[in-house]
Amino acid sequence: RRKVPQRDLELEETPMELGGEQGRWEEERLKTASLSFGAKKEREQGMRQEQEKYQLILEEDEMIDFVSTDQDTPALSQAELKKQSMQEVRRSLPIFPYREDLLAAIHEHQILVIEGETGSGKTTQIPQYLLEDGYTKGGMKIGCTQPRRVAAMSVAARVAEEMSVKLGNEVGYSIRFEDCTSERTVLKYMTDGMLLREFLTEPDLASYSVIIIDEAHERTLHTDILFGLIKDIARFRSDLKVLVASATLDTERFSCFFDDAPVFRIPGRRFPVDIYYTKNKIYCYKEQVLIMHPSSCCTFVLQEEIEACCELLQERCRRLGSKIAELLVLPIYANLPSDMQAKIFNPTPPGARKVVVATNIAETSLTIDGIIYVIDPGFCKQKSYNARTGMESLIVTPCSRASANQRAGRAGRVAAGKCFRLYTAWAFKHEMEETTVPEIQRTNLGNVVLLLKSLGINDLIHFDFMDPPPHETLVLALEQLYALGALNHLGELTKLGRRMAELPVDPMLSKMILASEQYKCSEEVLTIAAMLSVNNSIFYRPKDKVVHADNARMNFVVPGGDHLVLLNVYTQWVESGYSTQWCYENFIQFRSMRRARDVRDQLEGLMDRIEVEVVSSQGDNIPIRKAVTAGYFYHTARLSKGGYKTVKHQQTVYVHPNSSLFEEQPRWLIYHELVFTTKEFMRQVIEIESGWLLEVAPHYYKSKELEDSSSKKMPRKQGKTKEELG
Ligand code: CDP
Ligand code: MG
Repeated sequence: RRKVPQRDLELEETPMELGGEQGRWEEERLKTASLSFGAKKEREQGMRQEQEKYQLILEEDEMIDFVSTDQDTPALSQAELKKQSMQEVRRSLPIFPYREDLLAAIHEHQILVIEGETGSGKTTQIPQYLLEDGYTKGGMKIGCTQPRRVAAMSVAARVAEEMSVKLGNEVGYSIRFEDCTSERTVLKYMTDGMLLREFLTEPDLASYSVIIIDEAHERTLHTDILFGLIKDIARFRSDLKVLVASATLDTERFSCFFDDAPVFRIPGRRFPVDIYYTKNKIYCYKEQVLIMHPSSCCTFVLQEEIEACCELLQERCRRLGSKIAELLVLPIYANLPSDMQAKIFNPTPPGARKVVVATNIAETSLTIDGIIYVIDPGFCKQKSYNARTGMESLIVTPCSRASANQRAGRAGRVAAGKCFRLYTAWAFKHEMEETTVPEIQRTNLGNVVLLLKSLGINDLIHFDFMDPPPHETLVLALEQLYALGALNHLGELTKLGRRMAELPVDPMLSKMILASEQYKCSEEVLTIAAMLSVNNSIFYRPKDKVVHADNARMNFVVPGGDHLVLLNVYTQWVESGYSTQWCYENFIQFRSMRRARDVRDQLEGLMDRIEVEVVSSQGDNIPIRKAVTAGYFYHTARLSKGGYKTVKHQQTVYVHPNSSLFEEQPRWLIYHELVFTTKEFMRQVIEIESGWLLEVAPHYYKSKELEDSSSKKMPRKQGKTKEELG
């Protein structure tokens, strides 16, 4: 039996179904049951009709055979969400009855863990309760961290609306490259990474009276580091309140970590969700997206598949025409612009249905009301890190059982729901991990190590980690920072390191920007840095215009590599006067460009701080490529017999087919990142000369390692290697 801390403030031992609220809940269920189907027979008939509805939409050969594991299928209902004023909605949230108890508990304890179902009101209500209770007196702030940008922006917008204030005034948000706060801001939502950076300017977070580490169960790298730092400052800032909020996962561990801090549980309000599994393994789930019943559905897919999925659904609806009710297909993912995001929260017009196609952002960080069905293909995209080779890759893997259950939980918020898992019950039991491994154990730590060093934390081995990173990952991060010149041989921060830490980007990118000073090309390098930070969504490639889109893309190709192509796109866009029309004509995503421009402006604004003058190389691309090399020399690959191999670890890697250098195959390449899909692909590559490696990183490369080639270029004949040319 799990250990329950002595001072535990658990309000109800038993889950809702068995607890004191049973009566109300049962009644509600009965009511909804009789509303929709009434007697059992009718209910069965209802189920059949529902089945027929799926068939209507699925083409025959795509029909999936589902098995239900839950015999006691409750009647479906379409719980009508009453149109209420915002204040009424606030009062109707599960957290509301516990407002006073919660405030009392916060008053009594410095650190409190708060556990509650997604949608119970933790994120939007707690900061408001605190404000109403006087925690912002004297201009003190309440900070609330979110692992995701979208969540930070959307909850801030929601809370501003609830408080009838303008977003950015009393309520604001701060995410990387975007600060929507002002002098007046007292409720500040921000990404966990941003709060981490605030330690650089305010090491004791003196301007905050309360810090809420929200979505703690996500265990992002930044959240985990915050745990250690905040636990530390709480010791000498006895006036600081620390709240650790989490979905119903792992709260005992948080309590343990924070010296047995009490856990405040907000009893959930949850309707039953039936789980269905497929009988057989599904290989291509994209085609299997179902549309069912006149109510809402949430489908979890990977970010890069969202647009395709939405198109597929819309296409199918068009084909079915008036045979089905109006269907709103709404995507939600991290980079979606906020006006589009807002759409998923709008009420569905009467008679219409809403299908939300989401990444795992909708698992716990965003609450979308009215979801009755969930379709869960069972995958997520996860960073993984090989501490031996230092290679980071994004891999599509089965999600954890905890994630799958959170996803299913999205269906039971307003009424009994259903979750269709596009995998077998066997796979759920045997192929999925229990929980997701914390990010700190599967990522490159260069960034946070640099940050911690800048905060004066030198002994990282003994840092108070909730789950320590693997030793070799930590060592490698130190080695890489040393190679980049950010640390000296004693592991102390250098002047360069201090400047690198000023930029809110990865150390390699930071180094690239700083190196542009020496190579006199900061103008161009800033653009490249900005474009790289939005790199995967610049080019638009609609299915029905693939040829046009590819031609348009080809028109941007310049010799030297993808970084220079990105630079070219940006430069032409600037020349067009930042035109939307120009983007449209050239199959460029305007939103991504607008974001690149924002990022660039922000970075340029920081150049003063790190004393880098913004100058242009006047069309010479060699300095630019050298600056890239100075930052990314770790990412060097060389063409040899079997294809490309990384220089340090001899790992086989491939140029991504989207790259401008896909056919050209230069001898030496630097890649921006590796992505593992079917193979290890290098994304965003640039051609370099091996001699430059000795110039930018003499301590890292020995000339012997680079010697079996000359720095001369390979003969350029489309795609032919030395061997082929004899
Ligand atoms: O943090 P937690 O998951 O406990 O809940 P929350 O994010 O505070 O959401 C509470 C309620 O606020 C949701 O059920 C939604 O009804 C509403 N909400 C919204 O309408 N729009 C948002 N952007 C966020 C929340
Ligand atoms: Mg929340």
